[in-house]
Amino acid sequence: MSEKKPQRVLITGCQGQVGHALVQRLAPDFQPIGYDRSGLDLSDLDRLADKLHAAIEAHQPSALINAAAFTAVDRAESQESLAYDINALAPGIMATVAASHGLPMVHYSTDYVFDGQRDGAYSENDPTSPLSVYGRSKLAGEKAVVAANGPHLILRTSWVFGAHGQNFLKTMLRLAQERDALRVVNDQIGAPTSAELIAQSTHTALTSLIGGADARDPRWGIYHLTASGHTSWHSYAKHLIARARAIGWPICVEDDAVEGIAAQDYPVAAARPMNSRLDTTKWQQAFGETLPNWQVGVDQVLTNIPLQP
Ligand SMILES: NC(=O)c1ccc[n+]([C@@H]2O[C@H](COP(=O)([O-])OP(=O)(O)OC[C@H]3O[C@@H](n4cnc5c(N)ncnc54)[C@H](OP(=O)(O)O)[C@@H]3O)[C@@H](O)[C@H]2O)c1
Repeated sequence: MSEKKPQRVLITGCQGQVGHALVQRLAPDFQPIGYDRSGLDLSDLDRLADKLHAAIEAHQPSALINAAAFTAVDRAESQESLAYDINALAPGIMATVAASHGLPMVHYSTDYVFDGQRDGAYSENDPTSPLSVYGRSKLAGEKAVVAANGPHLILRTSWVFGAHGQNFLKTMLRLAQERDALRVVNDQIGAPTSAELIAQSTHTALTSLIGGADARDPRWGIYHLTASGHTSWHSYAKHLIARARAIGWPICVEDDAVEGIAAQDYPVAAARPMNSRLDTTKWQQAFGETLPNWQVGVDQVLTNIPLQP
């Protein structure tokens, strides 16, 4: 009896935090085909559709996953056109191509589509009101994916970190080894979410949705997908520094030398939401998945980063 071959999935942005985690996690149940910028440049809008059609013909995938994005939030303020090309127009082209082949598309979005003024966690139905170019470009990308009218998952996440790539956790880890005092924003809150959790949850949803391959499954749509719980950047930094010290990292900074400061005292080009909390009830109910607390992901990632000599 021949063994059933795993279904192929095309993944853009395979060198990014989420893209890299997807390539690792989706195998062996799926066969991930990863594209980096050199294989599929999302800013090359004139050729993107043709290249996607060719990739689909060549690999016959069961889904497209877009993990590529212009994620330099502050740089987006001065590179608005490029941010829109990559975050809004390219996902629209991808979704249109996917729909023309009858393929589902998974796309990632962000807490930055909200203005952060709400009390409590945002649900998928709350009105959006982005504060930055990045947030507006990502919201336009969501709308373009929906407008293509194919089966899709849009997964809004927040404060992504992982052992692979650049992120707040790794920056803090480096600074905590170099400096004896740190100042970290303490009045913005959200849920640090590991790229591994996002990849695991994407695996769960794909298994459930493309196994049946039913475009009318009511579970296609938009979801909030983050780790459970919430914290401030300051408490997050204190937690990860304490955990790193406990497992043997050569940390210089003392716990009481990690000072909390207001966001307004740490000027950056792009405004961030003060409240980035996303309500994940819809996801947990649709896919029967309990999302772990953010500290679980931090502990896992810390043990996966090689100790610096
Ligand atoms: N990072 C966060 O905190 C965060 C929070 C909420 C939502 N998200 C969303 O989650 C998703 C994944 O983010 P991430 O953290 O994995 O981002 P990331 O680590 O910055 O990875 C983004 C990837 O996109 C690629 N890329 C950029 N421009 C491209 C282009 N023109 N053509 C092809 N690829 C291009 C990058 O390639 P290079 O490596 O060549 O630059 C990189 O590999 C994105 O949709 C992002 O908006 C992220």
